[in-house]
Amino acid sequence: MTGGPKILVTGSTGNTGRPLVTKLLERGVSVRAASRHPNPDAADGVRFDWYDPATFDGALAGVDAVYLVPPPLDPDPQVAMAPFLGKARQAGVSRVVLLGASIVQSGGPAVGQVQKLLPQMFDEWVVLRPSWFMQNFVSGHHHAESARTMGKIVTATGQGRVAFIDVDDIAEVAAHALVAHEPIQGDLILTGPEALSYADVAATLTEVLAQPVRHESVTAQELERILAQDMPARAAAMLASIDELLARGIEDRTTDTVARVTGRPPRNLKETLRPYAQRRGAPLQAEAVQFVGVHGEPQPAKLAGDAVEHDAGFETAQGRAQAEVDSVAEGDVPMDVGAMDGHSGGSFAS
Ligand SMILES: NC(=O)c1ccc[n+]([C@@H]2O[C@H](COP(=O)([O-])OP(=O)(O)OC[C@H]3O[C@@H](n4cnc5c(N)ncnc54)[C@H](OP(=O)(O)O)[C@@H]3O)[C@@H](O)[C@H]2O)c1
Repeated sequence: MTGGPKILVTGSTGNTGRPLVTKLLERGVSVRAASRHPNPDAADGVRFDWYDPATFDGALAGVDAVYLVPPPLDPDPQVAMAPFLGKARQAGVSRVVLLGASIVQSGGPAVGQVQKLLPQMFDEWVVLRPSWFMQNFVSGHHHAESARTMGKIVTATGQGRVAFIDVDDIAEVAAHALVAHEPIQGDLILTGPEALSYADVAATLTEVLAQPVRHESVTAQELERILAQDMPARAAAMLASIDELLARGIEDRTTDTVARVTGRPPRNLKETLRPYAQRRGAPLQAEAVQFVGVHGEPQPAKLAGDAVEHDAGFETAQGRAQAEVDSVAEGDVPMDVGAMDGHSGGSFAS
């Protein structure tokens, strides 16, 4: 499609943006890859910062469609994104695909405010609303770090299940939505093929990554108490309340959207984890050695049985969780079921 539409991919170095750029280039689409630190190897990489409007015009020049990854952890992303969307419309952009979260509806908190703007501004718009990412267990996410450093994932989700999704499947849907001749319109709730409890996830991590990982199930009150040692009380209460929602089954459902849009089923967790295991040998141990503690020092591997409260890895993980929860807390999100998308589940942040 070179010579056809040009697509701007924001967040092009991130979980979904990076595979999306590859998929679009493979389709012969003309791509501009944007982020604050664009990959110099990427075709037509451009420096783009949501908080620097001087970067907007260069990113948008000659662009027909845009993939929108909101500024991470911003409780009010519409403040930065609305002026950009206005410029995009003026520049002739006709199609936008926004990365949202399944738990947030149009008009809801944070990205929900951006979502609300799209029908008024663009003829063709899609909001991808994925469930939680499978890559949370193998990337820099706090679950991955606690699994690597302590051999456990600590939640108050009980038996609650989540239909985790592979970011590559999200990127595949995004590619379809961006290039489809017949526009795909509206919200797409995206899930993996099966809803899993965190105990199921821990068992799969143990099996596929050949490293013992267990799910430590605590009460919401206990989780709040643990979290409050390293974050503001309100943030701890928020994170614990989300886990309570998961325990009540708010994420316990799957959709067939990935298969319907892409023509192939979404990956299951084992399929997603296997390449990580193959690439890294004994991944959890290797990465635990590389783990950098809260004061910058390398930390030794820590496995199941270590005290949660005093583990530097967990503190770091909690720091990230705190940032995530702060981003919601500051947005004055009423964290009850009514603020979320009923039974459609999803992620409040990342
Ligand atoms: N993790 C989950 O389970 C989950 C579930 C559902 C929805 N989500 C949503 O998915 C989205 C992406 O989250 P993620 O953790 O996967 O992040 P990510 O896409 O892996 O990383 C963020 C991307 O944005 C870019 N970026 C960061 N700050 C920027 C700025 N100021 N201006 C322009 N670009 C900037 C980053 O590149 P540079 O650093 O080079 O700028 C990077 O490419 C979030 O909105 C999250 O709410 C996540």
